Amino acid sequence: MCGIVGYIGQKNSLPLILEGLRRLEYRGYDSAGVALIDGGLTIRKKAGKVSDLVNLIGNEHLEAQLGIGHTRWATHGEPNDVNAHPHWDCNNEIAIIHNGIIENYTTLKKKLQQVGHTIRTVTDTEVLVHLIEEMYKRCNDLFTAVRLALLEVEGAYGILVISTREPDKIIAARKGSPIIIGRGDGENLVASDAAALIEHTRHVMYLEDGEVACLTRNSVVTKTIHDEEIIKQVDEITYDLEELEKGGYEHFMLKEIHEQPDSIQNSLRGRLLVNDGTVKLGGLEPVMEKLVNTNRILLTACGTSWHAALVGKIMIEQLAHIPVEVDYASEFRYRNPVLQPTDIVFVISQSGETADTMAALKEAKRKGATVLGIVNVVGSTIARGTEAGVYIHAGPEIGVASTKAFTSQLAVLGQIALLLGRKRGRLSQEVGKALAADLASIPDKVKKVFSHEAQIKYIVEEFKDVKNFLYLGRGSNFPTALEGALKLKEISYIHAEGYPAAEMKHGPIALIDENMPVVFIVPKDAIYEKVLSNMQEVKARKGRIIAIANEDDTEVEHIADFVIRVPRTYSYFGPIVNVIPLQLLAYYMAVARGCNVDQPRNLAKSVTVE
Ligand code: G6P
Repeated sequence: MCGIVGYIGQKNSLPLILEGLRRLEYRGYDSAGVALIDGGLTIRKKAGKVSDLVNLIGNEHLEAQLGIGHTRWATHGEPNDVNAHPHWDCNNEIAIIHNGIIENYTTLKKKLQQVGHTIRTVTDTEVLVHLIEEMYKRCNDLFTAVRLALLEVEGAYGILVISTREPDKIIAARKGSPIIIGRGDGENLVASDAAALIEHTRHVMYLEDGEVACLTRNSVVTKTIHDEEIIKQVDEITYDLEELEKGGYEHFMLKEIHEQPDSIQNSLRGRLLVNDGTVKLGGLEPVMEKLVNTNRILLTACGTSWHAALVGKIMIEQLAHIPVEVDYASEFRYRNPVLQPTDIVFVISQSGETADTMAALKEAKRKGATVLGIVNVVGSTIARGTEAGVYIHAGPEIGVASTKAFTSQLAVLGQIALLLGRKRGRLSQEVGKALAADLASIPDKVKKVFSHEAQIKYIVEEFKDVKNFLYLGRGSNFPTALEGALKLKEISYIHAEGYPAAEMKHGPIALIDENMPVVFIVPKDAIYEKVLSNMQEVKARKGRIIAIANEDDTEVEHIADFVIRVPRTYSYFGPIVNVIPLQLLAYYMAVARGCNVDQPRNLAKSVTVE
């Protein structure tokens, strides 16, 4: 969703804010804008990317020690220049940037228009700045005015507000959308994401829902919106700036695909005890007894994280023999789920900020279940909102299409399954050792897949102009097929469907002709022969087959048009390796079609609205 950044200090804020926006652009790229205070209020905003805003500003000499900036992912109102943030009040004194949705904005708008406010745009955000203006008239204090206005607001927000009447302050507030304050020396920063701060400071404070902060150069005062003062702890960010850069790759997505041997290793490091055939997960220690004795686990997530949950279900059910249910977070929260106090709910999220996943977390907590997290971003809202959990340690993921977070989520779910299997006495130490050794070998196996990159590019040349793709797999490779199809849709805009291979004959088979490429994920596992039969069914109808098959498979090449080889693993962990060629296929397809890989249209990295 939208990215926001603010600076107050002694430096010129503009270059700093533009650089911050560039780092946040993966959160939204429909428009970008800045508001600066240097005597008066200067606003520049433009539909398009941060580079369009930079071009608009051109050589204009703008200098201010206080400024805020925004990069938008449109919710209300077309992504044009007018609807771009910042928005301002009737008197050109107050400016606001906002990430989220003001749900009752039509009611508020009517009230404000009745008392004489002129509202220029169709955005929900502009209504909020007029509401703050109204409150400001009553109290003459920006901090209080923002607080009072927010008491009337329903919805989600991360906001920054500035005023020419108090040119030494930025007011920040959050409910549902992240706000992180960076503490500097004689300067303070604030942003929706630590990525915009770490060049300047590693000392951060996370605002919680219902909190408001007033930043000056030298101080940060935090309160609840009900005016209770609160003391916030200062945390330290541990990752490096270079982890956020492209490191010589053309796109973040390609860099992140190639980082997977390391990121998977990081998810296993210090946890996987190969010699003991088990796993140590410190983050789950406080709830271990409940976890081992539970009769039911629920996994809930969105997007790619939901695909990881589908694989996780198979891992946990097979290795630990605990029944597992998987829900889309957006469905879970509204279906009035039946939960017992002994149920364990794992919420899985790369960003730790997805609004639907957060809502599912709250619903599960409200119903008395034990709620645990599997999260990438350290200190994110979901990480902080769960009772305990496991960080996947994949490192910052910037490419909008998730890759390394998926494989690290699977590495963590695999370890949870192995740990529970051992603790529940379902797996002997010998079996545990074999499984742990297999997991430990996965980073090297992933590396081996990269040797087929040239072949994947060649396959892309054959298929880059097709309109549809089908992805088929069985068992844990059905979710792998879903993930492969999602990657292709997201970045190359080719329609793609993932299906359980055996279900093909109940519908999708009608689509198969010489124009339909079908990707089969067909490792040599217990259902290998069955999948071969499904491949024959496709071949008989002239479908063109790309098979993801094991290195020692000599049968597949007689049926498939193209075979991409992957090393063998235990079937539970297979998707971690098998998904790699699918990520590369989607990537090179998007590049060949001239698509913007890191910023696909209409998508956002972190969806902080429902
Ligand atoms: C968005 C992203 C996806 C991601 C999903 C869930 O749709 O574009 O890549 O899988 O959100 O995000 P989360 O951060 O909760 O894993």
